[in-house]
Amino acid sequence: VVNLAGDLADAVPAGATAETVTEVQHYTDDLFRFRMTRPASFRFRSGEFVMIGLMVGEKPVFRAYSIASPSWDEELEFFSIKVPDGPLTQHLQKIKVGDKVLMKKKPTGTLVNDALISGKRLYMFSTGTGFAPFASLIRDPETYEKFEEVIVTHSCRFVAELAYSQQTVAATREDPLIGELAAGQLRLFTSTTREPHEHTGRITTLIENGDLFRALGVPPLDPETDRAMICGSMAMLKDTKALLEAAGLTEGANNRPAEFVIERAFVG
Ligand code: A2P
Repeated sequence: VVNLAGDLADAVPAGATAETVTEVQHYTDDLFRFRMTRPASFRFRSGEFVMIGLMVGEKPVFRAYSIASPSWDEELEFFSIKVPDGPLTQHLQKIKVGDKVLMKKKPTGTLVNDALISGKRLYMFSTGTGFAPFASLIRDPETYEKFEEVIVTHSCRFVAELAYSQQTVAATREDPLIGELAAGQLRLFTSTTREPHEHTGRITTLIENGDLFRALGVPPLDPETDRAMICGSMAMLKDTKALLEAAGLTEGANNRPAEFVIERAFVG
């Protein structure tokens, strides 16, 4: 039994709040986004994640979710996979406007501007739901203060899976607050691996063979000018990280800013 719409007040676990779903949009059989209310006291840095959950019977089930909305947004947005037997997402994919979703109040994460030293160009490399933290970061004015050029890449198996990144970047360019900065400094590069598209191939292949840089009209990776954030599957992180290290970039952390940072795209 999943308590989606009922009165959760008695069931909210310690350290969590129950928030109200305000919008749900499904993109494919595997992907959707939702928005929900944000507790007035909740603060986070763009790129961080929180624990999101539902009561499943008597038990809360939580999973890590990158916050996809910018820190100035009144609401919170999340981009999720739907796993048929996923302990959380088999239920979460059924949420409707007005339903309650649990959230723990402590955000954390490594994909934050503070973990990078400034540079000329910031790359954000993502696959699948790994685009989510970048949906937040590309709407943060600090990103554009720190980097002259912001290049976000999103690679998926199929074209339909690119809808969220394409829609978010288009909306960002039209946004009254951030639109002007984004229009001048933000670029989106998308590729698919199992269907024809303007660009095809894994992001790692496109970095390695130089097609990415040729398509963008920018020089190859250079530790003097380039910074990067990576978010995708474990295999994607490992392979992309190896290419960045081969180009001379070093990994940073919150307490030790450097040239790139990585974080696993969470799966429900
Ligand atoms: P491919 O279709 O060649 O597996 P997934 O949904 O499996 O996480 O994959 C999302 C995207 O990431 C797909 O386009 C997939 O390509 C790609 N991908 C999978 N493994 C890697 C990897 N090790 N390095 C780079 N891209 C990868």
